[in-house]
Amino acid sequence: MKLFEQININGVVLKNRIVMAPMDTEISLASEEAREYYAKRAEGGAGLVIVEGISAELFANNDFVVDLALLAERIQHYGAKVIMQLTLHSLTNTISQTICQASVHELEFYQQTICNAATACSRAGFDGIEIHGAHGYLLSQFYSPQSNKRKDLYGGCPENRMRFAVECIIKLRSQLRKNFILSYRLSADELQPNGVKLDESIQLALALERAGTDMIHVSAGIGGDTVPDASQPAGVFADYANAMKQAVKIPVICVGRIETPAFAESILHEGKADLVALGRPLLADPFWPKKALEGRANEIVHCKYCNKCLRTISRGEPIICAVNPEFSSYRSAKNETPNCPSDLQANISLQL
Ligand SMILES: Cc1cc2nc3c(=O)[nH]c(=O)nc-3n(C[C@H](O)[C@H](O)[C@H](O)COP(=O)(O)O)c2cc1C
Ligand code: SF4
Repeated sequence: MKLFEQININGVVLKNRIVMAPMDTEISLASEEAREYYAKRAEGGAGLVIVEGISAELFANNDFVVDLALLAERIQHYGAKVIMQLTLHSLTNTISQTICQASVHELEFYQQTICNAATACSRAGFDGIEIHGAHGYLLSQFYSPQSNKRKDLYGGCPENRMRFAVECIIKLRSQLRKNFILSYRLSADELQPNGVKLDESIQLALALERAGTDMIHVSAGIGGDTVPDASQPAGVFADYANAMKQAVKIPVICVGRIETPAFAESILHEGKADLVALGRPLLADPFWPKKALEGRANEIVHCKYCNKCLRTISRGEPIICAVNPEFSSYRSAKNETPNCPSDLQANISLQL
C-alpha cells in the first residue's frame, strides 16, 4: 500500500504516510498523561505526530525544553517523527486590530517570537514545527482580505498580505538547523463570503514553497467548519489538497474525515496528496495505522464524527472520546502537573 511507503521530508524520513493531525487536548503537555496519550498514537503506527497548537508567545517567559524533550522522546521511541504546531495568539476580536495597527517593528518581533519557539522545539529534539496559518488565527487573518485592512507593504494585494508569512519562513529557515521540518498549515478556502479562496491559497503556498517551506498541510474553513461532522462527506477537503498538490512540488497533506484505510489509500493512489492526516480517527482508535498495516482494518474502532471531543475541549476540559474509554484516565491531568509552567497549562486553549 502507498500508505506504508516511506517519505523523506527535508532529510527526515517518515516510515509511512499517516500523520496525526494537531488536536488540542486541554491536557498539560508537561504531564505524564500527555506523554501517554501521544506515545499511544505513536505506538499505534502513525509515521508523523503533529503535537497540538501552542502559542509561540508562551516560550518567551518559560523554558519548556525539558518537558518538551520528554514528550518528543516518548513519541520517537515508537519510530514516529514529531513536530510541534505553533501559533500566535488565540482567536480573539483583537487580532484584526493587531494586524491593522502593529508597526513594522512589532511585526518583526512577532516573527522572531515564532523563530525563538521553533528553536526551543529544535533543542527539545523535535523533528520540526508546523506553522498554524489556518482556521482564522493570526497568520491566516494576515492573508485574509476579510481581516487585513493595512495600507502599507503588508496589506492590499495578495503579495503584500502574504509578506508576513513569507518573511516568517525565510527567517525560520535561516535560523533553524538542517533536516528540520517546516510545515505550514493553511485553510485552502476559508469558506467565508469575503475570505481567502482556493486560487489565492495556491498563490500563498507557491510563495511559501519558494521561501523554504517543506510541506503544505491543507485544511479549510474557520471555526466549526474546520472539523466536519457526520453530515459532511468523507474526504471533504480532498479536492483542495488535490488542487494544491498539482500546483506545488513539496509534499502535501490532506486532512478531514478520512475514515478508512481504503479511502486514505485512494487519496494517495489518485495523487491528490502525499500524506493523509487523521485527527479524530486516532482519538477513537490510536491503532488505526497498525491495524491497517496488518490487514485488520475490520477491527478499527471508528470515529462517529459526533464532535463530543471538540465540545469538551471548547469548555476547557480535558479531551474525551465517545467511543474510546482511554480518556477517562486523563481527566485529572490538568491539575496534576508538577512540572508544568502555569502559563503553559492555562494557555493551551482552543487552537483549532
Ligand atoms: C478536539 C480537536 C482539537 C483540534 N485542535 C486543533 C489544533 O490545535 N490545531 C489545528 O490546526 N487543528 C485542530 N483541530 C482540527 C484537526 O487538526 C483536523 O483538521 C480536523 O479534526 C479534521 O480532521 P479529522 O476529520 O481527521 O478529525 C482540532 C480538532 C479537534 C476535533
Ligand atoms: S468524540 Fe466523537 S467525533 Fe470525537 S473522536 Fe470520539 S467519536 Fe470521533
